[in-house]
Amino acid sequence: MIPDYLISINPSIVATEDVDCLIIGSGIAGLRAAIELAGFRVLVTCKNDPYDSSTYHAQGGIAAAIAHGDSPESHFKDTMVAGCFVNDADAVKILVEEGIHRVKELISWGCRFDKNESDFDFTHEAAHSFSRILHARGDATGKEIVHTLLSKISSIPEIVLKGKFFLIDLAGVDNKITGGIFYDATFDNIVFVRAKKTIIASGGFGQIFQETTNPFSITGDLQAAAFRKGAVLGDMEFYQFHPTTFYMAGAPRFLISESVRGEGGILINSSGERFMKHYHPDMELAPRDVVSRAIVAEMRRTNSNCVYLDLRKLNSDFIKHRFPKIYSFCLEYGIDITKDLIPVRPAAHYAMGGILTDFYGRTNLENLFACGEVACTGVHGANRLASNSLLEGLVFGARAGKIAREQLGSFKGSVFNLPSYKVIQQQGPLIDIYDLQRSIKSLMWKNVGIERDETSLTDALNRLETWGKYIFQREFNIQSGWEVQNMFIVSFVMTVAAMKRKESRGAHFRKDFPEPDDRNWKKRQTFTKYNFYKGIK
Ligand code: SIN
Repeated sequence: MIPDYLISINPSIVATEDVDCLIIGSGIAGLRAAIELAGFRVLVTCKNDPYDSSTYHAQGGIAAAIAHGDSPESHFKDTMVAGCFVNDADAVKILVEEGIHRVKELISWGCRFDKNESDFDFTHEAAHSFSRILHARGDATGKEIVHTLLSKISSIPEIVLKGKFFLIDLAGVDNKITGGIFYDATFDNIVFVRAKKTIIASGGFGQIFQETTNPFSITGDLQAAAFRKGAVLGDMEFYQFHPTTFYMAGAPRFLISESVRGEGGILINSSGERFMKHYHPDMELAPRDVVSRAIVAEMRRTNSNCVYLDLRKLNSDFIKHRFPKIYSFCLEYGIDITKDLIPVRPAAHYAMGGILTDFYGRTNLENLFACGEVACTGVHGANRLASNSLLEGLVFGARAGKIAREQLGSFKGSVFNLPSYKVIQQQGPLIDIYDLQRSIKSLMWKNVGIERDETSLTDALNRLETWGKYIFQREFNIQSGWEVQNMFIVSFVMTVAAMKRKESRGAHFRKDFPEPDDRNWKKRQTFTKYNFYKGIK
């Protein structure tokens, strides 16, 4: 039985727009999909603006086997090993092979990746057996990519981009999606965007955690909306924690790119000891989950709230040139990274799980596609290989756009009814939304974070159940209220998924089942609202 609080929210539409394709999200996947749809009326929406995506903030780079001596086979192998062999091997093959063409295409559109005297300046990141990471503007790769894609889009007149457009709910009945109902913050209106095809490319859900590298807008809104409509969510227990984010009270949890370690930065604890040798032969370049857990263990052992990145052995001009963004950010907080240690600790970074799709972004709901971090093709398995996420957005964004375009060519039945939707006054018990948000974030961080066990997960489920009873009794008419409902749904599904997987694999670490269990668990989990409580106590 589905608890009432997992059923659709129901608040009057004051405006309607008709498009061929609605794309929700303006990161790499959404923008790349849009380009494929040139010639059709396309609306790309984002919650804030196109510079507020995880893509825009991406530092490290984009992985592709284009360096001399590298091969897609080697990239394939590294991706499978990082994903602990629960990746979908066909999805990985598509990623590493098509990725090469998509990256070269991006370069032909004007994307300027950094070069040395002879070639691209490929860098190294954890768990890659080859230096195959392209980066731009030093450590501002995402910014260069977004500028390239936006400039390409500006030459396609049918594509319209709208910011401050928050999706309240997907529209549609009987498994057929007909667009979305939005809150337009600019005009304080509710708008129904009627669309023949809808592509979700809204990113992950890092904001369900207290500590995260994700922008504030990344609250899992579309994973939750799709789930409410009956979409399948997969791999939800697999969430990647980045080992090194800047840690200083009051400062944002700014990412200190893995490429800092790739270029020779080392990790030391509060006693000044280089500790990674005790945890993994690859030391600082061990897989992310290993480094994150090692940092947590060292913080616990030394009773400290962070460890430190030490770049003091690197040439200071090199540091300023290679990592200009990180250098200037840290300097604002009084840390000169050419001389001072950088206080760091792990934070929630990337969702391997999301809306289940095939290799063209098709979901189980008619006319609904998903691509990029919001989607789950299975390409990452239990742990994403560093710098594969921008590549995923590019490859699967293009594929989703292409198939949507093909389907639009033969689309029949363009008349949809307006969904019933009324503006309502807030009803139900009084709720301090921000307190609730903080509570969910703190609970998820402590109980469903880097380390989990039966006790922490049971406690999380019990508390979420209690909160859910009043969160969903209330009809909200403000964005933060809808967001908290979405955060709740994603947190709940993730906790259930983590509870069920009684083993450790990749980013999912159970203290009570610390080893992988291939016999029972070399497989993936999926959830829909229809089977949600099956098999769960
Ligand atoms: C980083 O620069 O460390 C992040 C890159 C990624 O998450 O792939």
